[in-house]
Amino acid sequence: MTIVRAKVMGFCSGVRRAVQLAEQTVERTTGHPAYSLGKIVHNQTVADRLETKGLRLLADDGTPPPGAVVVIRSHGVPPETLRRLRDSGASIVDATCPKVVANQRLAASHAAAGRRVFIAGDEGHGEVMSLSGHAPGVVVVPDRESALACGHDGPSTLIAQTTMNQAEVDGIAAALAENNKDLIVAGGICGATADRQAALRELLPQVDAVVIVGGRDSANTRRLTAIAHEAGKPVWQVANADEISRGDVAGELSRFERIGLSAGASTPDEDIDAVEHRLMELAGKM
Ligand code: F3S
Repeated sequence: MTIVRAKVMGFCSGVRRAVQLAEQTVERTTGHPAYSLGKIVHNQTVADRLETKGLRLLADDGTPPPGAVVVIRSHGVPPETLRRLRDSGASIVDATCPKVVANQRLAASHAAAGRRVFIAGDEGHGEVMSLSGHAPGVVVVPDRESALACGHDGPSTLIAQTTMNQAEVDGIAAALAENNKDLIVAGGICGATADRQAALRELLPQVDAVVIVGGRDSANTRRLTAIAHEAGKPVWQVANADEISRGDVAGELSRFERIGLSAGASTPDEDIDAVEHRLMELAGKM
């Protein structure tokens, strides 16, 4: 068995920055509890490490105790959430990814200009909720079928969740354009998402099967898995190396000669390396 790594995979700059800010925050806030509003990143290894260092988890609608420091994750939050946290007396460390901030600003400015803002994204996803809070009257469009049902007489703008698949966004834009004559496509997926998807597409013809490393709650990881699946490649998404050994995954993988390896933008190097190591053990190369 040969393992072929995608040229680009794992942590993006926005996630790396959020994790570093969270680590710095727990290290410097002695005497004050440090919280993250929701998981800093959709990855259990990182969440467990930060929890061990002292970072506590605050529910999205939770109120921190007086004097707390709250880290905002890379997805960002709606403005009213930020206000509520500040009103509670919390200090804020804002780790919202700059690309998400740019889309929040676009959503706010296009809504303020009187345009209906459509967001191509997963309903209930943290980033979609954060964008929605910046544009009153926003309509979330999860797929092409929903887009076909969205008609608006006035001007409208489409902004995409940064971790979507570009083909999904293009399909939604084309469907929306059928019933929205004055439609602008403003904010799209981010470069990090596009790079990981492109690297996987480049890898697919070189391998017989694919392993994608990342949490099942990670939207960008799930999309990498979907891309491999749509290309007709046998694909397994695993959260960690132990899942390789679990059930019949190892047995299934051992049937293939060349295994491709990729990982979502929220997957740390240690998880990727551990999965590669387990695959090499499986191949008898360790
Ligand atoms: Fe930011 Fe894109 Fe990563 S929006 S958090 S760089 S996936």
